[in-house]
Amino acid sequence: MSVQIDHLLNETRHFPPTPEFAAQSVATPELYTDAAADRLGFWANQARELLHWHKPFTKTLDWTNPPFAKWFEDGELNVAYNCLDRHVLAGNGDRVALYWEGEPGETRAITYAELTAEVKRAANVLTKLGVTAGDRVAVYLPMIPEAIVAMLAIARVGAVHSVIFGGFSPESISARIDDADAVLVITADGGYRKGKVSALKPAVDEALSSGESYVRNVLVVKRTGQDVDWNERDLWWHEELASVDAEHEAQPFAAENPLFILYTSGTTGKPKGILHTTGGYLTQAAFTHKNVFDLRPETDVYWCTADIGWITGHSYVTYGPLANGATQVLYEGTPDTPHPGRWWELIEKYKVTILYTAPTAIRTFMKLGRQIPQKFDLSSLRVLGSVGEPINPEAWMWYREVIGGNKAPVVDTWWQTETGGIMISALPGLTTTKPGAAQVPIPGVSIDVLDDDGKHVGHGNGGLLVVTEPWPGMLRGIWGDPERFKETYWDKFGNKALYFAGDGARLDEEGDIWLLGRVDDVMNVSGHRLSTAEIESSLVAHPMTAEAAVVGASDEVTGQAVVAFVIIKFSHLDDTSHADIAATLRAHVAQQIGAIARPKHIFIVKELPKTRSGKIMRRLLRDVAEGREIGDVTTLADTMVMQSISNTMK
Ligand code: PRX
Repeated sequence: MSVQIDHLLNETRHFPPTPEFAAQSVATPELYTDAAADRLGFWANQARELLHWHKPFTKTLDWTNPPFAKWFEDGELNVAYNCLDRHVLAGNGDRVALYWEGEPGETRAITYAELTAEVKRAANVLTKLGVTAGDRVAVYLPMIPEAIVAMLAIARVGAVHSVIFGGFSPESISARIDDADAVLVITADGGYRKGKVSALKPAVDEALSSGESYVRNVLVVKRTGQDVDWNERDLWWHEELASVDAEHEAQPFAAENPLFILYTSGTTGKPKGILHTTGGYLTQAAFTHKNVFDLRPETDVYWCTADIGWITGHSYVTYGPLANGATQVLYEGTPDTPHPGRWWELIEKYKVTILYTAPTAIRTFMKLGRQIPQKFDLSSLRVLGSVGEPINPEAWMWYREVIGGNKAPVVDTWWQTETGGIMISALPGLTTTKPGAAQVPIPGVSIDVLDDDGKHVGHGNGGLLVVTEPWPGMLRGIWGDPERFKETYWDKFGNKALYFAGDGARLDEEGDIWLLGRVDDVMNVSGHRLSTAEIESSLVAHPMTAEAAVVGASDEVTGQAVVAFVIIKFSHLDDTSHADIAATLRAHVAQQIGAIARPKHIFIVKELPKTRSGKIMRRLLRDVAEGREIGDVTTLADTMVMQSISNTMK
């Protein structure tokens, strides 16, 4: 581990907040001091300040039966009321909640008053269809306003949503519907992606074709107008909404009432249904959205590019921004349709001030070249966020320079489906940022880096990332499987109150946190521990490299060997042979990190296998590197990629 730490310690650039930014920072240093003095009191204050409680809570946390936490247990609230009605009642009904842009170019500007009205009708439809508090409703929709309306309407009646990413297969849909015993599915005829119409309802029909689920109805939003088969259980969304009363009074529910289940894949086995509840989750989503992004709801235009099918879309498209009364952009399509500057065009058009996206997107744009974003006016941007995977310093710097005009601070935010909200991040008006580091726990969150024996590793060392105290947005369990919940997250150190995140991290000399990737991706080469993320970072630091993925492939001599799959920038492919490129990169890694990290093999490929959420599927690359038959590719965004990689290696 020491080799990799030395390499990352070479990153010494620091970017303090500008005096102007710091002077107007939404977050103040007292957040840290207050939370340090009285963590629970701090969260109780946040919950009271940020949310409306129909019935105030008197208890902050019950942690008498770890790992089962109860936050704000005797309080009652309505999540949808918090995201909608109260803003209208406060006189902000005319503020735009959503600037929606369809991929083909249609637009809708929806105010808080209009969104509230639509959610009220949708809530009445749910009640009409017999959905009551606690029932599970599956949502399989594209990025259209109705997706947010559906989530909020389900929350409004105290039911539980299970949003299924619009790219998932019928098999995945039916597994999720069955696991949660959903009674209703909300879908659309189709959606637009990459300039094409993708069918959604047929996938739901197929998922329900066995006829064995509890689903009574399928509510269908008309988005594309394509022909769809019609079953007895099917209802048109627009007809149902028109048929019900416009008024709906939000009822309060207990703070621990479930809000949603979101499925996420574990290291093995079937996806886990991560369960979140209302009061604590909404408190953390609102708190982090406000302070991490320095949000000014009156003037900011915020854009999180995540799909609502992922946790980032739940916490930072639906719940955090709407609880805070923010104005946001919602975009249906892909970044490169109809042209590769689409995102930058939207930023220019809506004068987006806060952008929240993923390193994989940033690296893709790097590959295409800075001349594309440079054609657009991005000067409105004032805060840039990153999430989902470690961001290598080069991507971080490119994001800051090319997109942020060298002035907008970059905040790298670490968290998980399980944590509900951001856990580690700089606060842009307070923290001196470092390229590639997630840096500090947010106020009120307690994080440590431990060795395998559960001992604190100390500054300058790497280990396992652990959350040492319960936090409001924490998962409350795995749906229907309390044993798996305990085993997966709370058994690692024999102390039932320590949450093991599954990530490696190191503390630098100042105590700042640098994420090293999942520990399941940590390699052991000749007894030395190496991080895939670190070698990837080194590879992409070379000017020839656009993207890189590294796996540890078993090796008879060294235990594991480093195998890299690299995409080379177009401009370097013409005049250099693959063998020369590989040799140059091997030498580069050896030089940057040490000979131990030098990849044994480097394969030059055109694409990397990624899930639809943009995560590289190293498992598949490991299969290739180890000469095995390639495993299950069904979760890949493009299932042909593995074929193309295998061909490259022949
Ligand atoms: O490995 C970490 C990585 O993504 C994992 C969580 O994935 P998911 O539940 O899909 O949520 C993604 C969006 C919150 C983590 O265990 N991860 C997430 N953010 C970062 C990160 N790794 C490094 N740096 C980050 N900022």
